[in-house]
Amino acid sequence: MIQLSDLTKSFGDRILFDHVTWQIGDGERVGLCGPNGAGKTTLLKILGGLEESDSGAVVKPAGLSIGYLPQDGLTHSGRTVFEEASSAFQPLLDIKAEMHDIEHKLGDASVPQDEHDAMLARYAELQDRFRLADGYNMDLRIATVLRGLGFSPEDAERPCETFSGGWQMRIALAKLLLGRPNLLLLDEPTNHLDLAAVEVLEDALREYTGTLLLISHDRAFLDAIATRIVEVRGGGGLESFPGSYSDYARRQRGEAPAPAVAGAAPATDAAPVPSADEKSTRIAARERAKEETRRRERAARRAVALEEEIAELEERLELLTSQLASPDVYRDGELVRAIESDRSELREEIARLYGEWERAAQESEPSQ
Ligand SMILES: Nc1ncnc2c1ncn2[C@@H]1O[C@H](COP(=O)(O)OP(=O)(O)O)[C@@H](O)[C@H]1O
Ligand SMILES: [Mg+2]
Repeated sequence: MIQLSDLTKSFGDRILFDHVTWQIGDGERVGLCGPNGAGKTTLLKILGGLEESDSGAVVKPAGLSIGYLPQDGLTHSGRTVFEEASSAFQPLLDIKAEMHDIEHKLGDASVPQDEHDAMLARYAELQDRFRLADGYNMDLRIATVLRGLGFSPEDAERPCETFSGGWQMRIALAKLLLGRPNLLLLDEPTNHLDLAAVEVLEDALREYTGTLLLISHDRAFLDAIATRIVEVRGGGGLESFPGSYSDYARRQRGEAPAPAVAGAAPATDAAPVPSADEKSTRIAARERAKEETRRRERAARRAVALEEEIAELEERLELLTSQLASPDVYRDGELVRAIESDRSELREEIARLYGEWERAAQESEPSQ
């Protein structure tokens, strides 16, 4: 899908890429390795169109959406974290804004009938598009990603500029994960993350079905994500190795690649035989860990069920709103009041479910 064709790039007399030709397949997950200063960041920038090559070309399909996470220097300001993350769904937000606009106008009794009908038709069309694009789940998706990256609900309402560099990077990551571009370019994404946030990122990247190029020195992270390692040699070339980072590392050490057995434990020095006491302590610890896992899984299932319930109620709320717009209804004061009261009940119920969902989501996370 993406091709580097005879690409050359140097800074002054430092040659980074010397007539490099390389191809990245659709949906591939490539880990870029190599010493500092080898040109990894430069390669990512060239792929993202942020840096020009000296000669040669990057061939990309038309309409490819690219998400790029720079190594540093990120700042967001002027919006809350939640608003900033929401901007990943700009087309959906535009639809929502237009729907609200129409809702206001529909309540105006002085609008002529034919204009009113046209607005209703437009409203129905927007509503369909909103539903098809999973718009009723948008806020939940944003809340889920932000929570996963370590933002509390209170944090999410704080202005972006009150966050430090590492958190600025998490805001950018949230936007990228929500926006799901076709090509994701991540330059050392785990540098400012704690272990819990790295796990969330791993999960999100495992679910991501687009093409991924990532630079990282975090071996476990690379092992979890990359299915091909490309070494940026510095001084001109790239070398590509199929398989995981561990396969690559073994090859570098001159060892044969590991047999393809999932979960095979690495050979270690023989451990001393544990005493009976140690054994029972370990068994008890394992039982506790199991119980903790079961509890977390229950909470996670509950969170998913709540998400579905909330989306359903949001849809009903939207339906009531569109009923308000129908001429038969909005001329009938009694009916309007009844619908308004249903709507406020629904809103309260949604707020309550959100609270429950927050708790379930929290319980489903590993305790730290
Ligand atoms: N805009 C630039 N101008 C001059 N030299 C640069 C520029 N960007 C990068 N370099 C140099 O190119 C080399 C590769 O940089 P970089 O791509 O950031 O490497 P890596 O990400 O592998 O550490 C470094 O020696 C760096 O100093
Ligand atoms: Mg770099």
